[in-house]
Amino acid sequence: MSEKLKRIAAESAVKEVKDGDVVGLGTGSTTYYAIRALGDRVREEGLSIKAIPTSVDTRIHALEFGIPITTFEEFDQVDIAIDGADQISEKLDLVKGGGGALFREKVVASNAKRFIVIADESKLTKRLSMPVPIEVLPFAWRVAERALIKMGVKSVAMRRAKGKVGPLITDNGNYILDADFGEISEPEKLETEMNKIVGVLENGLFPSSMVSEVHLGTKEGVRILKK
Ligand code: 5RP
Repeated sequence: MSEKLKRIAAESAVKEVKDGDVVGLGTGSTTYYAIRALGDRVREEGLSIKAIPTSVDTRIHALEFGIPITTFEEFDQVDIAIDGADQISEKLDLVKGGGGALFREKVVASNAKRFIVIADESKLTKRLSMPVPIEVLPFAWRVAERALIKMGVKSVAMRRAKGKVGPLITDNGNYILDADFGEISEPEKLETEMNKIVGVLENGLFPSSMVSEVHLGTKEGVRILKK
């Protein structure tokens, strides 16, 4: 069921893409449906777009589905960015980075004219409470971990590579720390505080000020949430 809800949310967002758009493409299983639907529009409607992918995985999927790729060297903004989320609060703040792509996702989202979040309804919650993924430079990961402990984090764990010994390495060559703060009452403040830590590249809190709308797949159809 959740696959269907992800797909309808993704397809709803892809309808918002216009001819000539530069599109930011997020990462994850929900975004996969968006990439596929966008590829269908390119093929069937002759839609002329270019995409900036947020991960190596997404780049490969986009190329597979016939979507031309571009970069921030060619364009200073994307017209529309479409991406998933791990948790969405009622106020539309997000936790992202479950797939480890949060840095490029934040670069894209913060340079998007419109940022549309796609998710199935299980991601919606009153307040954010998931551990926040933080991308840290390998040289400084312990330094960053100690600073998070000083900030009052409940627990912090280095993300491990699936099926391998050792840390997960991001597309940028860094590590991910998953930091559990319990319920997050001031996401924007926490986002800023974490980014002040030396060794932190970026974190997975995406404040609602970045989000234009959320397309939520529900059993009754797609709900569009706006601030
Ligand atoms: C990757 C992300 C994803 O958007 C997030 O993890 C949601 O993934 P999925 O659509 O597979 O549930 O932030 O870094």
